[in-house]
Amino acid sequence: MTSRKPYLNLICCTFLTEFLLALSQQSDTLSFGEGWNSSITVSLSQKSPLSSILYGIFFEEIGHAGEGGLYAELIQDRSFDAVATATGFFNISSVTMDAELVTVAHSYLADSQGSLPKQFRQYKFWKSRYLEQLQDSVAGNQRDDIVIAWQALPGTTAALSREKPLNAMNTVSMELTTGQGTGGVINTGYWGVSLVKETSYTVSLYLRSPQDPPINVSIALLGNSSAAVDMYAEASLCATSAAWQRCSVELVPSETDHQAQVAVLFRGPGTLAIDMVSMFPTENVRKGSGHLNPWPFRQDLLEALRDLRPGFLRFPGGCYVEGDWLRNAFRWKHSVGRIEERPGHYNLWGYWSTDGLGLFEYMLLAEELGAEPVWVINNGVAHGDSVQGSDIWPWVQDALDSIEFITGPPHSRWGSVRAAMGRRRPWTLNYMAIGNEDCGKPMYVNNYLAFFGAISARYPRMRLIANCDMQQDAPTDLWDWHIYTHPQDMFNKRNEFNGRTPQNSHYIFASEYAVTEGGGWGNLIGAVSEAAFMTGLERNSGVVQMAAYAPLFVHTNNRPWPTNLIVFDNHRWYGIPSYYVQQLFREVQGTHYLGTVVRTNPATEVHEDKVAASATCQSEGCEKVALKLINFSSYNQLLEVQLEGATAVGQLGRMVTISGQHPEDENTFANPTKVHPETSTVHGLSNKFYLSLKPWSVNALMLQLSSSNAVI
Ligand SMILES: *[C@@H]1O[C@H](CO)[C@@H](O)[C@H](O)[C@H]1NC(C)=O
Ligand SMILES: *[C@@H]1O[C@H](CO)[C@@H](O)[C@H](O)[C@H]1NC(C)=O
Ligand SMILES: *[C@@H]1O[C@H](CO)[C@@H](O)[C@H](O)[C@H]1NC(C)=O
Ligand SMILES: *[C@@H]1O[C@H](CO)[C@@H](O)[C@H](O)[C@H]1NC(C)=O
Repeated sequence: MTSRKPYLNLICCTFLTEFLLALSQQSDTLSFGEGWNSSITVSLSQKSPLSSILYGIFFEEIGHAGEGGLYAELIQDRSFDAVATATGFFNISSVTMDAELVTVAHSYLADSQGSLPKQFRQYKFWKSRYLEQLQDSVAGNQRDDIVIAWQALPGTTAALSREKPLNAMNTVSMELTTGQGTGGVINTGYWGVSLVKETSYTVSLYLRSPQDPPINVSIALLGNSSAAVDMYAEASLCATSAAWQRCSVELVPSETDHQAQVAVLFRGPGTLAIDMVSMFPTENVRKGSGHLNPWPFRQDLLEALRDLRPGFLRFPGGCYVEGDWLRNAFRWKHSVGRIEERPGHYNLWGYWSTDGLGLFEYMLLAEELGAEPVWVINNGVAHGDSVQGSDIWPWVQDALDSIEFITGPPHSRWGSVRAAMGRRRPWTLNYMAIGNEDCGKPMYVNNYLAFFGAISARYPRMRLIANCDMQQDAPTDLWDWHIYTHPQDMFNKRNEFNGRTPQNSHYIFASEYAVTEGGGWGNLIGAVSEAAFMTGLERNSGVVQMAAYAPLFVHTNNRPWPTNLIVFDNHRWYGIPSYYVQQLFREVQGTHYLGTVVRTNPATEVHEDKVAASATCQSEGCEKVALKLINFSSYNQLLEVQLEGATAVGQLGRMVTISGQHPEDENTFANPTKVHPETSTVHGLSNKFYLSLKPWSVNALMLQLSSSNAVI
């Protein structure tokens, strides 16, 4: 195990070391039934291979994971579709409509203040009410929960317009009219625009002047003070004409400000129409594929994912793929090509998706992370409606076309769309999921069979994931298994897959799991119970091939879900304790599982197991073993560990421990690593030793199966 950032804190926990030393000296005197409460036996002879992609990540566009998160766009609502949805403009046919731009916050779960249960209930209430209303609202009725990120300057009138649309996919623009003096409009970003001093940002936009051309159009980076306006940078834009023109400028702010704003300013009197106002760090623009698309990812959040070293990336949802109704499902063909030609959609999680993160960008992300892509496609089933019978064929064709987009040669129909986006070389795609959580919904099995048949006929090596084990009803390569629960149940679920085999159950993809009740906003006890569950995944990796925590990301200002692996705002992030558990398990996953049995001493009073364990070989030769030990208790217990069949065991071991002062400990922006891994050295290991674990802790003990005394 190499030393990586979160583990740098090499704290030798003296209590443990001394304790172990004392024990190793007297270990012969301890015998069965006396001194220990649970025992762990690892059998070196029972070695079974682990799936190389057992641990991965699941990216869903929920809680602004992409929009205002991993996607590096800094302007919220860059082509005015969220305003058009919020004001009902999509639902009327007139060419223009005055838009009153009032900033409203989301009315639900605006922040993590207050007690969780109430807010979670509120969420459920909100969600059901929302579903009732949605049939109309996705068609364009007024929505009062959408953030309006645009504000007109005093004296400027803002109108939404369909006149001279930018292109067929981007039909709404904004017309700003002002009298004498300076007019314009301000974008407040995703809960503020984060600017870093002396960093270059590129703003690009389309503009035209329907009449009375305004003069001296400029872009300004401003502070958020209503009085004397702090101007951090300003640059003039190209002169306007009656036709749309694209202009771009680079700006370097004079100050760092994470609550900044971006303004489009001009001198009146006159009218200025604008569309696709986009701002990325110039670094992203330079690194992007040609002039078509900037490099899409926010660097710090990309690093947060890289540190998990995911085996696979499941994307882009989740319910996000299904949509409340088919008309707001994620449709990949609308998510590719130039960003100004992606119409975007109002998504099921209550905000506008620009689809700036589209199929191309998700494939890029998988490649960047070295993760196996798992592309989840809508199979004609949404929460509220489904495609019937033979109408499914266009949807099946969309799925086949998506595979051609990803894997086809650059001269193929859809491969050429990819090539035009700057990527001639095809990607590889081995896994596709047909729908999400749709078993039991009308038409699922019917549509699934159509997708399965067509995809496997054309791409016989594609592994296809069903939403449940359909037994004899349908062919299944793998099936999705999901759970959101409380810590005790999650701990118990470590035995969920015992006894299942690919023959009696088909291969399993535990594609969503998390403690959501009693897990606070992501606390230690939740993480500990998930670690226990993960020992069961390793034990049963012969049938469980892949597993992912969910959701991956949440913006702190928009939490539709209580627990999420990575919490961010517009410039920072922290991992909840579960993040470090995921990272640790992936890091020491290894290649083979070693039969690991936990027994409770019948002589002790506690009859319930409160310890979970799993040992894995770090390589084929099994020179190193990672023994994961989870203490899910507050009982006083002593643990005996036996390594059956080990001829020699290095005396020194390396222990990584994730624990805290209290089971409800959480990380926060103020204290982002309150719960994080700590490394220590343990002495006196042999093929039988005794341990006491920290309360509520996840531990990985790295052992060397040789007599070497080197620390590993
Ligand atoms: C701007 O500042 C005001 C007052 O301090 C605050 O209420 C508002 O949330 C801020 N807006 C942004 C986008 O940061
Ligand atoms: C427009 O910009 C030019 C060049 O910077 C400047 O000379 C002129 O005074 C500006 N006009 C107005 C009305 O601000
Ligand atoms: C653990 O074992 C010791 C020694 O047998 C015993 O005294 C103690 O009660 C046990 N603890 C529990 C929680 O059962
Ligand atoms: C688990 O933590 C509890 C609480 O401190 C402790 O009493 C117990 O001995 C620990 N269990 C093991 C197996 O170390």
